[in-house]
Amino acid sequence: MSKKNQIVSLVVASFCLLAFPLFAGEGMWLPHLLKALNEEEMHAMGMKINAEDIYSINHGSLKDAIVHFGGGCTGSIISSKGLLLTNHHCGYSFVQSHSTVDNNILKNGFWAQSFEQELSNPGLTATFIREIVDVTDNVLGDIPDSLTSKERQKMILANIAKTKADIRLEPFEKIVIKPFYKGLQYIAFITVTYKDVRLVGVPPESIGKFGGDTDNWAWPRHTGDFSIFRIYVDKDNHPAEYNIDNVPLKPIYHLPVSLDGAAEGDFTLVFGFPGRTNAYLPSIAVKQIIEDFDPAKIAIREQSLGVMKKYMVQSEALKLKYASRFARIANYWKKWIGEREGLIKTDALNHKRALEKRFLDRIDSVAIWKEKYGMVYRAFNDAYTINRDYQLSREIHYEAFAWNSQLMRFMHSIHRLASFERDPNAFNSYKQKIDDRVKGFYDAFDHDIDREIFAKVIAEYFKYMPQHMVSPKMFAKWNELGQSGEKMAAFFYDHSIIADSSAFLRLWKLPKDSLMSALHSDEGFNIINDHISYFYDYIEPGYNDNKLVIDSLQKIYMEGLMTVFPKKRFFPDANSTLRVSYGKVEGYTPNDSTTYTPFTYLNGVIAKYKPGDYEFDLPPKLLELYKNKDYGQYADRKGRLPVCFLGSNHTTGGNSGSPVLDGWGNLIGLNFDRVWEGTMSDYYYDIRLCRNIMVDTRYVLFLIDKLGDCHRLIQEMDLVQPKTENKVKE
Ligand code: ARG
Ligand code: ASP
Repeated sequence: MSKKNQIVSLVVASFCLLAFPLFAGEGMWLPHLLKALNEEEMHAMGMKINAEDIYSINHGSLKDAIVHFGGGCTGSIISSKGLLLTNHHCGYSFVQSHSTVDNNILKNGFWAQSFEQELSNPGLTATFIREIVDVTDNVLGDIPDSLTSKERQKMILANIAKTKADIRLEPFEKIVIKPFYKGLQYIAFITVTYKDVRLVGVPPESIGKFGGDTDNWAWPRHTGDFSIFRIYVDKDNHPAEYNIDNVPLKPIYHLPVSLDGAAEGDFTLVFGFPGRTNAYLPSIAVKQIIEDFDPAKIAIREQSLGVMKKYMVQSEALKLKYASRFARIANYWKKWIGEREGLIKTDALNHKRALEKRFLDRIDSVAIWKEKYGMVYRAFNDAYTINRDYQLSREIHYEAFAWNSQLMRFMHSIHRLASFERDPNAFNSYKQKIDDRVKGFYDAFDHDIDREIFAKVIAEYFKYMPQHMVSPKMFAKWNELGQSGEKMAAFFYDHSIIADSSAFLRLWKLPKDSLMSALHSDEGFNIINDHISYFYDYIEPGYNDNKLVIDSLQKIYMEGLMTVFPKKRFFPDANSTLRVSYGKVEGYTPNDSTTYTPFTYLNGVIAKYKPGDYEFDLPPKLLELYKNKDYGQYADRKGRLPVCFLGSNHTTGGNSGSPVLDGWGNLIGLNFDRVWEGTMSDYYYDIRLCRNIMVDTRYVLFLIDKLGDCHRLIQEMDLVQPKTENKVKE
């Protein structure tokens, strides 16, 4: 049997033996395998359409309405004119870039009342998946088992390149090949990327981000987290760079939009691009997340957020400038806190250990299993133990020197330039390449705020950093300056040319040798340059070597789990490829005395309203609409306007903006978050606590129609009433 068939049969056979549990939650499934793996269960849970309606290469199907939005979020097509729906927080930086203090569309909202008013967004892309092909045989077919991890990796890369070259593509198509089930399976995705994606409408931030970071990752939720874009194409309906003459896309398929919404217990399907999960880690890896990695990253971010917040509340200009950055840093800071709490509270470590014990017990009775998998946990322990300091150093290097200090992040580009010092051609061509970036950086550089952030962050960095992993020069400076973050900041920001915009830009004009000799005569530059070299020469390669070992063990373990537990089903970890998660509308009980129902309504928004507040303010027009109960056709049968709802769909970062579909495939909501108690679902999924949070389509429509007065968009959509049409009782 070929390797591909082996793995497919491993997946399918194990699944067919399963006595279908009725309401599944865990799992992010591959669209082209739904028929074999999930369809029966989905029907039992209330799905009316078939797997073929979700993914087909022969006719338009739901997958033709799903896009990877900007590479990190999901969007869906909701009209025959290429209208694209995604989250407010996914369109955030684009809305921010169109905003000024005088014309602050982030604050006031924006509704294009004609095609001409729609705003272009350089750099923004929307990618569709045309076809999904299993290429396991091509990638793994001729690789002998005897190879080392490194040799194997090399052959895999060569096979992937060859496979790509062998597949015939249209000029506007691309192909991406990714590993699944830890590399037991390889799948190719043929994609089409559109580059002219324009902003059409967005509610005021006070609605689109209502509740801000206080309510982020939490339920009950009242956020109208949506924004609307449109894809433009050339006259042949093909992708094109922005051009005034481009026309709206005629999509292969667009989603009907439901006016009926969903009710508790209804089937829900989330279709999107989940980024990354790690569901099959051994207990030692989870322990390191809880004890080492999450605490360090949380502590570093906390420092920089404190500084940013202090300035953002002081002026609208600073708020606008830092809004997107702050949101991005705050988002995962909070996520890690919840994730850590969740892993501890649900006793994830002991659940993992119990699974490990069951695994060992089972393999004990089968000699070949014992031979293949008997060493796996011991090997995991060794590999993860060796890797601990590398991974910790790597993660907090990125936190302290890339995500939180803008100057230090920028220094990575200058370090790269310096690395070409002995190769004038490479030097000059890279210098030219980063010319705009350098000027742009120094023009926008906020010296004082960044300095204050660095002072706090560097002190935290040294608290968590394994000493032997710090570059010797940086470590010596830290000691010389009395281990003071403030003095380190003064050293780099007040006394070095790297933080002096006009001096640096003057140097930048000099020819190579003069530029480099000036830089090398600056102690601050030399230390940071050496520090970054040390990171790339020592920490990064060490981490990558360990990772190869760990990855090959994870692959053996994955195969072992599937073989040893044939009745359990396994989904491939998320890897930014198109997936289907399904569940139902349901609340949860986070502790013994609290139970949450799955819907929130506009009156709940109003109850949280705090006039003038940073996070809980509301636009007067919404208050007016509420006062007059002017909900149009968007109220439910009891006259309430639904705002957000909960489901038991397994989702992760990247699923934001994913359409949520009812059993007939109509749009009922827009995924945007998870609940606090379930944020550990990337590592450990607990059906009792893990819920995804969605905005109700009716709230979206109401805001477009009544708040934005953008009736042309409503007219463009196919509004449907599936429950009325199918006479389903609520
Ligand atoms: N937590 C959500 C996700 O991970 C939404 C984040 C945007 N909102 C915010 N307040 N930062 O992306
Ligand atoms: N808010 C996340 C996103 O942006 C979704 C999640 O992590 O649940 O993709």
